[in-house]
Amino acid sequence: MKDIVFNLIDEEKKRQSEGLELIPSENYVSADILKAMGSILTNKYSEGYPSFEGIGDIKDEWDEKSIATKILPNYRYYGGQDNIDRIERIAIDRACRLFHADHANVQPHSGANANEAVYFAWCEPGDKILAMSLPAGGHLTHGSPVTRSAKIYNFISYGVIEDGDINYDELEQKAIAEQPKIILIGYSAFMKIPDFERITKIAKKVPGCLLMADMAHVAGLIAGGVHPNPLDYGFHVMTTTTHKTLRGPRGGLILSKGNIASPLKKPEKSLENIPILIDRAVFPGTQGGPLEHIIAAKAIAFGEALKPNFKTYAKNIVENAKTLASELIKLGFILQGNGTDNHLILIDVQKSFGFDGKIYEKALDKVGLTLNANSLPTDKGAAFRPSGVRLGTPAITTRGFGESEMKTLALWMKQVASICQKAKSEENLSNFTTELGSIHSEVRTLATKFPVPGIK
Ligand SMILES: Cc1ncc(COP(=O)(O)O)c(C=O)c1O
Repeated sequence: MKDIVFNLIDEEKKRQSEGLELIPSENYVSADILKAMGSILTNKYSEGYPSFEGIGDIKDEWDEKSIATKILPNYRYYGGQDNIDRIERIAIDRACRLFHADHANVQPHSGANANEAVYFAWCEPGDKILAMSLPAGGHLTHGSPVTRSAKIYNFISYGVIEDGDINYDELEQKAIAEQPKIILIGYSAFMKIPDFERITKIAKKVPGCLLMADMAHVAGLIAGGVHPNPLDYGFHVMTTTTHKTLRGPRGGLILSKGNIASPLKKPEKSLENIPILIDRAVFPGTQGGPLEHIIAAKAIAFGEALKPNFKTYAKNIVENAKTLASELIKLGFILQGNGTDNHLILIDVQKSFGFDGKIYEKALDKVGLTLNANSLPTDKGAAFRPSGVRLGTPAITTRGFGESEMKTLALWMKQVASICQKAKSEENLSNFTTELGSIHSEVRTLATKFPVPGIK
C-alpha cells in the first residue's frame, strides 16, 4: 500500500503548481536536480574529502570528461569512493569556476552549517564578529542570541540607514573600535548592492580580520553576472545556500581564496590557509558524513548556472523585481528602500495600509500567493507580528513570468490589501471568502499556464 506520505507529497505538488511562490529564498529545481537528489548516492558514507591535487589550475584546464574516468587519490575514511570522489571533485571545480574561488567546500548541509563552520575555522570562543543585526536584515546565524554561535562568539552588530542601505559609518567606527576577528556582510532582507570596495578598505584597518560574505540570497545573481562578487573585491570567504537564487538543491557551500593542501595536517592559522582551515572545520569540526546525493545535485545545479541562459535568468529576476516594485509603488504600497536593486522587496504594510504583515501574509495565502511576514528595521514589536512582508521574484521568474504578469500580480496584491483593510483582523477574513475565492481562481488559472519544472 502506498505510504500516506506520498499522498501529502501529491498535495504539495498541487499547491506548488496552482499557487505562486513569492518567498524570496525559495525556487524550483530542475528535473535533473530532483533525479540526483533521489538517487542511490544516499546509500554511501564518505567522511573526508577527495584529494585537491591540481585544483589550482582547474579554472583553465579542468577536463570533466577525463576526471569522470580517472581514479582519484583521496582523504576518506571509508572504501568504495571512486565514483563519489569524482562527483565531489566535479562539484568543487564547477563551484570554483562559477564564483572565481580558489577552493570550494560543497559539504555543508545548509547555509547555517556553512556559517558556523567559518566561525569555527577562524575564531576562538569569545572572539568578536561584526555582522548586520537581525532587525536590519541580517540572518539568525549572524549573531541572534537564540543561536549556538551567539553563545560561543561575541557578536557586535551594525544596521542600515533610512534609505535601506548599510550604515557604512557605523560599520567602520565599530570595526576600528572593536577590532573583530570577522567582518561579515550578509543578509536575508536587504535590497541594495553592498559597496564591497568600501568594505574591503574598512577591513584593512583591522589587522588579521577575515572578510566574510554570506551571499545566500544573491548567489544566483552573482553567478549570473548581475551582482558583484565579493571574492573579486578581496573578500577571503563567501558562504551561501545553494537553493535560493542559485536554484540548486537545499544545502550550503563555502567558497574561499587561499592555499589548497591536504586537510589531514593542521596548518598554521593564517588568512592564506583559510581553505584548509575551512575543510577541517566542516569535517570533522562541525559535521559528519557528507550527503553525496545532494552534492551530486549541487554539481548539476552549478553546471546549469555555468550555462549562458542562466545569465538571462538572473537578469530577468532583477528586472521582474524592479517592475513589481514600481507597480506596487504606483498602487500606494510603501517599500523599504523605495524599491529594489536585487530580487527582494520589503513592503511596509503597516505604513501603507494600517494593518500588520501577519494578516496580509494570511490573506495572501488564501489566494495562493505565498510570501512571509517580516520585521522592518524600524520595528519595535514582537517578530511574530511584524509590520512588513518580504517577497521576491526568483521562483516566478523560473516559471517564465515577465512584465505583464508582474503587473497582474501587483493588482492582486492591492485587491487583497483592500480586503484586509475592510476585515481588520485575521478572524474577519472569513467574511470575505467570496472575494478572496475569486482572486484565488484567477491566480490558479495564471499559475497553471506556467508549469513548475519537475512537476508533471
Ligand atoms: C543570509 C542567509 N544565511 C544563511 C541562511 C541559512 O540557510 P539554511 O536555512 O540553509 O540553514 C539563510 C536562510 O534563509 C540566509 O538567508
